[in-house]
Amino acid sequence: MKFSYVNPTKIQFGQGQIASLSALIPADQTVLVVYGGGSIKKNGVYDQVVTALADHNWIEFSGVGANPTIEVLDKAVAVAKEQSVDFILGVGGGSVIDGVKYIAAAATYEGEGWDIPQGKHKVQTALPLGAVLTLPATGSESNAGSVVSKAATQEKLAFMAPAVQPKFAIMDPDVMKTLPQRQLVNGLVDAWVHTCEQYLTFDAGALVQDGYAEALLKALKTLGDNFANQDDAWRANLMWSANQALNGLIGAGVAQDWATHMIGHELTALYGVDHARSLAIVQPSLLRNQLDVKKAKLEKMGKNVFGLAESDDLAERTIAAIEAFYHSLDVATQLTEHDGDKAKAVDTVVAQLEAHGMKVLGENQAITLTKSREILEQAV
Ligand code: NZQ
Ligand code: ZN
Repeated sequence: MKFSYVNPTKIQFGQGQIASLSALIPADQTVLVVYGGGSIKKNGVYDQVVTALADHNWIEFSGVGANPTIEVLDKAVAVAKEQSVDFILGVGGGSVIDGVKYIAAAATYEGEGWDIPQGKHKVQTALPLGAVLTLPATGSESNAGSVVSKAATQEKLAFMAPAVQPKFAIMDPDVMKTLPQRQLVNGLVDAWVHTCEQYLTFDAGALVQDGYAEALLKALKTLGDNFANQDDAWRANLMWSANQALNGLIGAGVAQDWATHMIGHELTALYGVDHARSLAIVQPSLLRNQLDVKKAKLEKMGKNVFGLAESDDLAERTIAAIEAFYHSLDVATQLTEHDGDKAKAVDTVVAQLEAHGMKVLGENQAITLTKSREILEQAV
């Protein structure tokens, strides 16, 4: 095992923590506050941010939608440049925080912004940024990843850069009280799949990473099973689980898959399927397709997470248990349940994967376009 690990994001967790904003951003900095479609105006989060920034010079940019597009984000980049912004604060879910990462990087780059997710521009510098999280799901609040879309071409691409890692993340579980049930389910499923992407590979005997991944999966399963009984502890546990699922720790030094995400992103870009729901469509089919190489870990997950008894078909029963978990949350595991056009979807997604250089995916680079096609044929 060999790895380098740091997570420099300061976490301010708990009720009332938005007030700590005032001390987290240097008082002499001009702040660009970025948010989405207005949920923060209805639930008091905006007011708390305004109160905390009373001694700061700040301006705002709103309207960053789900699956943020560079068409919208580039307008914020222009504001950041024109107003000589020093610090960017994202107040929202993964889409706003990912959007802020793009804005922060593009604000110090003179070329085309789309160069960034395309990898044509390697991000070395960015404006400093922080996050007030309102939807636990992506882990974006304390990682270096961002996923942005280009509406004009229906593309959705990810980029990673240490320069866009948030300086701090404020995580007050009370903000979740206004989340629609659909978004809460999405968050739970996204965090679950993030854990699986770093756990369901091959068994390298990494006791700490595997044990922590299993703890997260068990926590998420318990939260899913108790979805109807949401209280302060339920919200705090979901917020912390989703953060820990993608803050770099469980993936340090172990093989990682991410093929479900790469194929899922194409489904979102083309059909507008919510991010988490795109994963639930792809993952069971992908696990069955890759059962031989993932067998040992699927069996381990079956025993340690679902409490299943040993049997010859334990790996398959684990996949069935994952599917049953999604169904218990009313999450579809077939694209057709989203009115997707099957034949068209398979061809279009495979063509997009090819165009985006996703010709081999997965921990063994064994998911070729042929395999992706097989996976999609079962998934749509
Ligand atoms: O825009 P507003 O009005 O705020 O409404 C949002 C949005 O419509 C609403 N919402 C958020 N907090 C709320 C709330 N509504 C009521 N009360 C609150 N407290 O929820 C809707 C969805 O928000 P969004 O940010 O899109 O959801 P999520 O956090 O699931 O983010 C999904 C995005 O993150 C990317 C996905 O691809 C997708 O674009 N990902 C980012 C990752 C990363 N950076 O590490 C990893 C993930 O795998 C993922 O790919
Ligand atoms: Zn995800």
